[in-house]
Amino acid sequence: MNVHDSEKIAGILKSEGYIETDCPQDADLVIFNTCSIRQKAEQKFFSELGRLKMLKKRKPGLRIAVAGCIAQQQGKKILKRVPYVDYVIGPQNIHMVRDLNKANFAKIAVEDNLLIADTELPVERKDQVRAWINIMYGCNNFCSYCIVPFTRGREQSRPSHSILNEIKELAHKGYREVTLLGQNVNSYASDKSFPELLKEVDKIEGIRRIRFVTSHPKDLSDELIIAIRDLEKVCEHIHLPLQSGSTRVLSLMNRKYTFDEYLKRVDALRRNVPGIAITSDIIAGFPEESVYDYGLTVKALHEIEFDGIFAFHYSKREGTKAAAMRGQIADSEKLSRLNEIIEIQNEITEGKNQSLNNSVQEILIDGPDEKNPLKMSGRTRGNKIVSVTLNAMHQPIKPGDVINVLIIKANRHSLEGEVIPE
Ligand code: 5AD
Ligand code: SF4
Repeated sequence: MNVHDSEKIAGILKSEGYIETDCPQDADLVIFNTCSIRQKAEQKFFSELGRLKMLKKRKPGLRIAVAGCIAQQQGKKILKRVPYVDYVIGPQNIHMVRDLNKANFAKIAVEDNLLIADTELPVERKDQVRAWINIMYGCNNFCSYCIVPFTRGREQSRPSHSILNEIKELAHKGYREVTLLGQNVNSYASDKSFPELLKEVDKIEGIRRIRFVTSHPKDLSDELIIAIRDLEKVCEHIHLPLQSGSTRVLSLMNRKYTFDEYLKRVDALRRNVPGIAITSDIIAGFPEESVYDYGLTVKALHEIEFDGIFAFHYSKREGTKAAAMRGQIADSEKLSRLNEIIEIQNEITEGKNQSLNNSVQEILIDGPDEKNPLKMSGRTRGNKIVSVTLNAMHQPIKPGDVINVLIIKANRHSLEGEVIPE
C-alpha cells in the first residue's frame, strides 16, 4: 500500500513538471513516504531524515516533506522535533502534494479524507508488467496491535467502474498482472461485492493474472473461494494472515476468529482449489503470549504448512489497545520466539518448494534475472519466484510473456526452471 502510494506521489509530481532524481544533492524537494507499522520502520526514517540536516544547511532552498503514516500520527510534532522539515502530509491527503509549490499550502495536511475513494490520481509505475490498484482505503477492524486504522481512517471502497477503467487502461499499455489492494479486500463494498468485482476484472482482455491483498480470515467468504476456483485469471494464491495459533491470543488481538475457524477456511480453500499457495503473517510475543500460546503457533505452522510467512516480533504502537496491555514481553524473549518461528518456517517453505520439483509451472516473466543476466526471472501462479534458463531453440522471451517452465531445482526462497520447447 505504501509503495503504491509512492507511485502516486511520483505521478502527481511528474504531472506538475518535477523530474525524479536518486540523489538528494540534486533535489529541490525530498519526500519521505513513511511507514509506522512497526518501530523499526520508524527508526529507519528518523535516521534517514537526520542525514539531510547538513544538506539543508548548505542548500536552504531544499524543501523536505514527510508523507505517510508517521506524518499522520505525529503531525505537528514532526515540525517541532525536526525544524528543517517543511511539510507533513498524511496518507489520506496524497493529492495535496500537488499544492506544495503554492504559497498558501498549510504545511500540514492530516485531515480525514472522505473523498479518497472518489479521487483519481496519476500514477508513475515502477514496473511494466505488474501493477497495483487500490480498490479500497482504510480499515475498520482495529486489531489491537495495529496502527493502520488510526492512520488510514475508515474503510472506503472505490466505485467498480473507476477500478475497471484503470485496469483496462493498464492492459492496453501492456500490463499483464494486477494486484488489487486493500487492508481487507474481502469487505470491499461498492456497487459490487469483491467476488463480483473479480468476475469483471477477469473479463478484461490482455490481463493474464489477478492477485489481491490482504484477506482477513473472518471475512473470507465461500463466494470468494469459488471465485478463486472458477475464474481463470485469479491466481491460486491467498495471503491470509493468521497472526497467532492461540485462540486466546487471537481474542486479545481482536481478530474475531478462533484458530479452529481459521483451519476450517484453510480446509475449504484447499478442498476447492487444489494446490493453492497459502501465505501468512505471524506476530511473536504479543502481550500475555505464554510459552503455551507460543507453542500453539509453532504447532499451527506445522499443521498448516504455509508456503511462506512474514513473521514479526510484536512492536508496541502508541495509541493502540495492545500498547496499554499488561503482560508485555521482554524484547529478548520476543526475538528468540521470532527466530525460532522463522527457522521452523524456512524448513517448511523449502519442503513446499521441493514438492514443485519436476512439475511444469506457468510463469509470467518479469524481466532479466538480477543475479544472472543470461536468465530470466518470473513467478508461478502461486507467486513463487523462478529463475528461468533460456533455451536456444526457443523464441526470445521478454517481460510480460507467459510460458511453461519445467522446475529443475528448488531452493529455500526460489525455484529454478527450464523453458519447455513449444
Ligand atoms: N507489531 C508487529 N507486527 C505488526 N503487524 C501489524 N502491526 C504490528 C505490530 N504492532 C503485522 C501484522 C500484519 C502485518 C502487515 O504487519 O502481522 O498482518
Ligand atoms: Fe491492521 Fe487488522 Fe486492519 Fe490489517 S485488518 S490493517 S492488521 S487493523
